[in-house]
Amino acid sequence: MADGLSSGIDLSRPSAARVYDYFLGGAHNFEIDRQLAEQIARTTPNLAATMRAGRQFLRRAVRTLLDAGIDQFLDIGSGIPTVGNVHEVARAANPKARVVYVDIDPVAVAHSRELLADDDLTGVIHADLRDPERILAESRATGLLDLGRPVGILLAGVVHFVPDADRPAEILATLRAAAAPGSFLVVSHSTFEDQPQEMLDAQRLSARTDTEITLRSRAEITGYFGDWTILEPGVVHMPLWRPDSPSDADDHPERFGAFGGVARYDQPAG
Ligand SMILES: C[S@@+](CC[C@H](N)C(=O)[O-])C[C@H]1O[C@@H](n2cnc3c(N)ncnc32)[C@H](O)[C@@H]1O
Repeated sequence: MADGLSSGIDLSRPSAARVYDYFLGGAHNFEIDRQLAEQIARTTPNLAATMRAGRQFLRRAVRTLLDAGIDQFLDIGSGIPTVGNVHEVARAANPKARVVYVDIDPVAVAHSRELLADDDLTGVIHADLRDPERILAESRATGLLDLGRPVGILLAGVVHFVPDADRPAEILATLRAAAAPGSFLVVSHSTFEDQPQEMLDAQRLSARTDTEITLRSRAEITGYFGDWTILEPGVVHMPLWRPDSPSDADDHPERFGAFGGVARYDQPAG
């Protein structure tokens, strides 16, 4: 392939995006994905709830960015658009909000393009987070994002697919460097901190999808925000990030196995 990405859909292997879609109750998955999802669910009954908690974190974070005036979003590792996707949340607050979705999975990209074909304010890019320059160039080329203005960069549940060997911290630094002051970065990321053995077992199963998950510490995940200002309450277990109501915070927020945080790029002094 000229673009270095497979355009074909490999049905002999489960795909992370389709397994995720299955857990969220979507219809864009195949038998091979459902089998793996069921196997993961048996080992980790908590996982479907974890994925929903991730989605809810993302929605709360997007609403926070909208309240801060952000009207354009770069959503990398966006997955298959299921109900309550980023552009829907954004449009509810700002009908002119623009969203560019990026995913490595050809199934996620194909479904996104189909669903958003008539939507002039969204774009879909088939690209790999490990090639951030290309994502930035293609985002600009859509004509939808103006990176000279504040943008919301969303990396929800995706950086853990980048192994240490591919230098995730450098990828994040490249994305931050391309953003204008006033921009925001949203990250949620699986962790080994405070986790029971079953969560660590699920990580081993993820090795059967195209990309294995790397669990990381809160300190490493916090590092992805660089010198940007981390908003309160910091990098926390996802349900603790500005829950809509105290009861949403969950009695055991660590059970979702992922930290979430949001940071703002404040204009450097001087
Ligand atoms: C767990 S889903 C998260 C979906 C969405 N961001 C959310 O929070 O609801 C992770 C997505 O990241 C995508 N992904 C994994 N590795 C990627 C990479 N290197 N570049 C771009 N997308 C990637 C997968 O295909 C999948 O759709």
